[in-house]
Amino acid sequence: MNIERIQSPADQYITAAADKISYPVAAGNQGETLLLMEDVSVSFDGFKAINNLNFYVNEGELRCVIGPNGAGKTTMMDIVTGKTRPDAGTVVFGDNINLLEMSEPEVAEAGVGRKFQQPTVFEALSVFQNLELAASGNRSPWNLLRKPLNTEQQEHIQQVALTIGLTELLAADASVLSHGQKQWLEIGMLLMQNPKLLLVDEPVAGMTHQEMDKTAELLTSLAGQHTVVVIEHDMDFVRSLNTRVTVLHQGSVLAEGAMRDIQNNQEVVRVYLGE
Ligand SMILES: Nc1ncnc2c1ncn2[C@@H]1O[C@H](COP(=O)(O)OP(=O)(O)OP(=O)(O)O)[C@@H](O)[C@H]1O
Ligand SMILES: [Mg+2]
Repeated sequence: MNIERIQSPADQYITAAADKISYPVAAGNQGETLLLMEDVSVSFDGFKAINNLNFYVNEGELRCVIGPNGAGKTTMMDIVTGKTRPDAGTVVFGDNINLLEMSEPEVAEAGVGRKFQQPTVFEALSVFQNLELAASGNRSPWNLLRKPLNTEQQEHIQQVALTIGLTELLAADASVLSHGQKQWLEIGMLLMQNPKLLLVDEPVAGMTHQEMDKTAELLTSLAGQHTVVVIEHDMDFVRSLNTRVTVLHQGSVLAEGAMRDIQNNQEVVRVYLGE
């Protein structure tokens, strides 16, 4: 993998010490802790996929999580969403909400939205209808038979369509969308639920460079109003997000900081970037 130092206009915001980094406001990193994971461990058949993990995300922050295959990145998201129960540890969200006591639907209801790698939009429905279904929380096409949307709901759909860049395509069937557009629609479907925290697993896999740039813009624009955690392997994309990066390795945090510090960290280069 090619490692070069980043030099971007935003570098001026970054001070030397990794723990005293200041970012542009859009990247957040200023508010209260929204997600806290402490001493979290989980084993699968004796293998510690997550090992005494400590991970904190601030309200309004955009955070990127990187690390080798099998590092535990997806498992970490599974624990937050209630899909996997840890053997030990604490997971607290927002105003002291213990996520470990909640079912998957309850975690979603509390304001955690998750996007999986493969888009799951309804191809036979329009972009508008996909957003409409997502708004109701009932993702069954039969749900479209219910009473028409009120003005506020219509406006919300328009606003989300604008955010994800699909206003012109609201009436089009989702089947005609490009791979990238389907991914944005899926993010839009999450936004219809007004999540506080968005967990996004490998959003740019299979995207063109142009689509990647637009995705970086979209995720950056969501930070502030939402808190966003993005898992990604594509280093050019991670660099373009220009935000705080956490490196997971063997189920724990190996390093955290600005990308330019991360890519000069010898341990990180050895276990991941130097591959
Ligand atoms: N439900 C499960 N049952 C058994 N093993 C699992 C389960 N979920 C994850 N693992 C194992 O835990 C480890 C961490 O997997 P995880 O999917 O979290 O890694 P990752 O960092 O997301 O990797 P990748 O970059 O390849 O997506 C792997 O060894 C995986 O095989
Ligand atoms: Mg994964």
